[in-house]
Order: sequence, then structure tokens, then C-alpha cells
Amino acid sequence: MGCLDGKIALVTGAGRGIGRAVAEKLASEGADLALCDVKVEWLAETEAAVKGMGRKVISVAADVSKAAEVDAAVDAVQAACGRIDILVNNAGITRDGYLARMSEEDWDAVLDINLKGTFLMTKAVAKLMMKQKSGNIINIASIIGLIGNAGQCNYAASKAGAIALTKSTAKELASRNIRANAIAPGFIETKMTDALPEEIRKKMLDAIPMRRFGLPADIAHAVLFLASDASAYLTGQVLSVNGGMVM
Ligand SMILES: NC(=O)c1ccc[n+]([C@@H]2O[C@H](COP(=O)([O-])OP(=O)(O)OC[C@H]3O[C@@H](n4cnc5c(N)ncnc54)[C@H](O)[C@@H]3O)[C@@H](O)[C@H]2O)c1
Repeated sequence: MGCLDGKIALVTGAGRGIGRAVAEKLASEGADLALCDVKVEWLAETEAAVKGMGRKVISVAADVSKAAEVDAAVDAVQAACGRIDILVNNAGITRDGYLARMSEEDWDAVLDINLKGTFLMTKAVAKLMMKQKSGNIINIASIIGLIGNAGQCNYAASKAGAIALTKSTAKELASRNIRANAIAPGFIETKMTDALPEEIRKKMLDAIPMRRFGLPADIAHAVLFLASDASAYLTGQVLSVNGGMVM
């Protein structure tokens, strides 16, 4: 018996990193999974892991920044599963660079995927959740959306926007029995952070009181808490999971 038995969860960016860990954690607690990624071939491993736990799984390809692809993906999940109880908006990218040198293209790419993608997916799934009269939305933001970061003005703006979007969604949909919360991870070991130069990684580690980087599993545990009835009276909140880096 898991705490998510009978639930259907849609996780974006489930092909690797935090999204994969989240999908596997929710499956381990009994949820059936709809996996979404722009790189559909990356979903095979997540799909195999979820199936291995005896859960049902459907994989859909979509670029979350494209409304038509998002709507088609949500329609496909609805047709296959009938409902969506939990939405985890996790898909995200970085295109780092200093403000003065940042191209319009890098600004747009990050805002389109991290913020507009969260809006488009939330809009499409919320329509279904409103009909169901229940739902639970979890947006993966970042501590950078709370504190900013030199070299990440696009990313910081997108994640601050995702936090504001979460709060507005929570206010609009609370009366429909739909909760919306955000998680603000600190520095988590994934392919996204592997790309950072060693000196930046060292600086980051020095700033973490717990003296270790986070793991995708640390975020997956927080998602499980927000996805379950253990957090039934939480909505519009930002849960910061960062080893004490930001307090
Ligand atoms: N790793 C960290 O330290 C960290 C910290 C804070 C927040 N986050 C956030 O957590 C989320 C996951 O990050 P990660 O570290 O696992 O990254 P990752 O790069 O390892 O994985 C991101 C996944 O999202 C998918 N994706 C990218 N663009 C997409 C699009 N347009 N449509 C659909 N899917 C798309 C990728 O294919 C990939 O599978 C992101 O939103 C990221 O901003 C990560």
C-alpha cells in the first residue's frame, strides 16, 4: 500500500535528472505515471523503472513551450488514463551569461521553457482538474528565483515567475479543491549542474552549511510530500530544499 495508490501523475522533463527521480518516487508510492519530455527517447529508462515497480506508464513527447504540443500531450494522457491527479512541472533549462552580453535568444529560450511551459501545462491540466474537482500541481522552481544570481538573469526571472505563477494558481484554484505549490531546489547533482566549471562548484559547496550537494532523490522526497495528503492544508507555498544554502 502506497500513499498515492490509484493516483495518476504527469511529470514533465521526466527523461533524466530530477524529473526521473520524481517519477520513480511517485511510482514507488503507487501512482501510475504519464511521462513527458521533449527528448522522448530519454524516457525509455524512466518508463522501464516505473513498469518494473508494477505501475502503468504512458510516455508522451512534447516541447512544453509549444501550446499545440502541450495540448496534444495532455489529450493523449487523458485518453489513456482518464484523469490527472498530480502535475509536476519540472522541465527546465539554463542558458547562462552575464546581463550585458545575454542574447535575446537565450533570454527567450529560458523564459519560454521554464515559465511559459509551466503556464501552458498548468492551463491544459487545470481544465481537466477543474472538471474532476480535485488536483495537485507542483512546480519545480529554484532558490535562484528567490535570491537571484549573477550570470543567470534569465533563469532567475523564469523561476521567480514560476513562483508567482504558483501562488496565483493556488489562489484561483483553491476553491476547486486544487492545490499548487512550488519547490525551490538548491544545488542538485544532475547533468544540468555537471556542466558547471569546477571553481563554481567549489564556491557553491562552500556556501552550503550541510557541506554536500543535493541529490535528485532529495527533491523527489519533497515532491512526494506535496503530492500526498500529508500536505493536505498546504497551498501557494514554496518549499526550499537546499541544505541550508538559503534560509
Ligand atoms: N539541478 C539543479 O541544481 C537544479 C536546481 C534548482 C532547480 N532545478 C530545476 O529542476 C528541473 C530539472 O532540472 P535537472 O537538473 O534535472 O535538469 P536536466 O537537464 O538533467 O533535465 C531536464 C529535463 O527536462 C527536459 N526538457 C528540457 N526542455 C524541455 C522542453 N522544452 N519540453 C519538455 N522537456 C524539456 C530535458 O529533456 C530533460 O530530460 C529544472 O526545472 C531545473 O531548472 C535544478
